[in-house]
Amino acid sequence: DWNAGNVIADQIERIRAQVGTARVISAMSGGVDSAVSTALVHKAIGDQLTAVFVDHGLLRKGEREQVERDYVASTGVHLITVEAEDTFLGHLAGVTDPEEKRKIIGREFIRSFEKVQRELVAEAKAEGESVKFLVQGTLYPDVVESGGGAGTANIKSHHNVGGLPDDLDFELIEPLRALFKDEVRAIGRELGIPEQIVGRQPFPGPGLGIRIVGEVTRERLDVLREADAIARAELTAAGLDQEIWQCPVVLLADVRSVGVQGDGRTYGHPIVLRPVSSEDAMTADWTRVPYEVLARISNRITNQVPEVNRVVLDVTSKPPGTIEWE
Ligand code: XMP
Repeated sequence: DWNAGNVIADQIERIRAQVGTARVISAMSGGVDSAVSTALVHKAIGDQLTAVFVDHGLLRKGEREQVERDYVASTGVHLITVEAEDTFLGHLAGVTDPEEKRKIIGREFIRSFEKVQRELVAEAKAEGESVKFLVQGTLYPDVVESGGGAGTANIKSHHNVGGLPDDLDFELIEPLRALFKDEVRAIGRELGIPEQIVGRQPFPGPGLGIRIVGEVTRERLDVLREADAIARAELTAAGLDQEIWQCPVVLLADVRSVGVQGDGRTYGHPIVLRPVSSEDAMTADWTRVPYEVLARISNRITNQVPEVNRVVLDVTSKPPGTIEWE
């Protein structure tokens, strides 16, 4: 019988044998896979592991705190946060093309990570140690998808911000390689990782950067972050987290529409809700969210986010629409 405790015990033994006394780095994205693989490696080798979390300014509300505070408190992982918001937003200035955004975000992520990596390597060297290993949250479906057999360096390059260059001089530790998502979640729970992280719905690596149709700016990110937090809270409160695969909340930053509030005319931006039901994100249908829930989300967003005066619902399946708008 499959048992999370046995898998953990078995992996701890393997990781210890693989690593010896060397040091290990892990890139934390805030997602389930990297959170669980990192916690598992920490359980095996403690502070020989350093986890690196890049705050690119494209995170959802509360996400950084969730990692820095709740995740660290529950796992004891030694975490370094890279403050890279200014850098990312600087490079994204004036950029509206979705693929261009992805390229910039991916490239800057690697640069931020490599900077810390160099520091850690130097630090280890000064102490007569070496950094030889990199943790990857590769799951079984990733292995199959990339056609990788044993020993293949399956670094998710995909369109994933978690994708690291494959010329890094590291051996990989991939403790989740034989597992499916629900098994990874079970292991995460067994390791005591908070439910908000372990139960998280898919969220793209480029984050809110590809949920602003138009240029990404700090002000627009703040607007979207608020609207997204409200939609998420209401969907969760309505008990819809199981039914909904994910719900992108999108800011149409270059579209304005006329509204009225109190005695005044407003000229604000629309927010799009894109709740979808899916098995694997390859195909999807729009989720029939109850009208009362939609009404609550719409009322709260237009009342609490002054820049937004209209909330619209995306009722397109995939195909032909993709899940994300960019
Ligand atoms: P689409 O929009 O292609 O999305 O229907 C399918 C799934 O992939 C996620 N997605 C991404 N994930 N980096 C990621 O890590 C990306 O650039 C990216 N684009 C889309 C999307 O959220 C959905 O789950």
